[in-house]
Amino acid sequence: MKLTDTAAVVTGGASGIGAGIARALAERGCSIMLADIDTCAAEEVAASLRERGAVAKVMACDVSDYASVEALADAAWSAFGSVQMIFNNAGVMSSAPVIDADPREVHWIIDTNLKGVWNGCSVFGKRFRAQRLPACIAITASEHSLGVPHLGGGIYTASKHAVLGMADVMRQELPDFITVSLTFPGMVRTRIYEATRSSPIGPAPENVRAFGERAMAYGMDPLEVGQRAVQGVEEGEFMVMTHPHVRVIAEKRWQAVDAAFARAPEIDNPEQYEVEAVMARLVAENK
Ligand SMILES: NC(=O)c1ccc[n+]([C@@H]2O[C@H](COP(=O)([O-])OP(=O)(O)OC[C@H]3O[C@@H](n4cnc5c(N)ncnc54)[C@H](O)[C@@H]3O)[C@@H](O)[C@H]2O)c1
Repeated sequence: MKLTDTAAVVTGGASGIGAGIARALAERGCSIMLADIDTCAAEEVAASLRERGAVAKVMACDVSDYASVEALADAAWSAFGSVQMIFNNAGVMSSAPVIDADPREVHWIIDTNLKGVWNGCSVFGKRFRAQRLPACIAITASEHSLGVPHLGGGIYTASKHAVLGMADVMRQELPDFITVSLTFPGMVRTRIYEATRSSPIGPAPENVRAFGERAMAYGMDPLEVGQRAVQGVEEGEFMVMTHPHVRVIAEKRWQAVDAAFARAPEIDNPEQYEVEAVMARLVAENK
């Protein structure tokens, strides 16, 4: 996809990977709308993009709220005339063992990381389909989409697995002129360790946040990740990898699946249960 002179919306654009994506887009001559719950930080990112000659605007948006995402799209189309990219990047994380997580925090993570991404896909996807220009729905997934990189973030891991499944179906349902691109970063040096500042149960204890901050210091530069995400959109990649070691996490998952199949029962004509073939047959019979 040719990006010069196109417009993009980046959710969670006030910080970290979103700010990196915005900068990479600015370098390619795109106009950008940064959407975030933290508009002060977003204004600072927008000002730095404008200093580099880009058109950059800010819109307050809570991605977990469908109406807020509709208002974002209205603002973007009225600012730029047309929009051809949505980067569904906003995300939050907390670190509670799965069965001990607070129900309010579970809702908050799923509402932001899964429902928030679906809101962006649905609102922008429908407008892209009607607009009939080349367009891309991009999503910041994670190494947590492919396996289990570490414990202590199980609900986050679940949300990131879910966006991969959703996106894989969506890309096959959309018309050819709309592509879908997911980026799967490993550790990136961002403020995600502070995400619980917007949690409904309040910020994580200081020692948990301090540990997160120390870990994040070992992460990749968010601009590097943003550059890869934008390159992935440009080059039509469905799965965009940034950290080569993430292959090990994906392979570990596959090895577990493979080993489990070795113990599956042996049956005659296993293809009889192939759901795609069964559905195709039923559709043909109903014609
Ligand atoms: N940092 C990492 O190591 C890492 C690795 C893989 C994937 N990711 C993913 O990258 C994405 C960006 O995270 P980051 O690491 O840059 O963190 P970050 O905390 O630096 O940035 C996230 C931004 O999202 C915004 N946000 C949070 N909730 C929102 C909501 N409801 N509506 C709108 N904006 C909201 C925050 O205000 C913040 O500006 C997330 O989806 C995260 O899961 C991060």
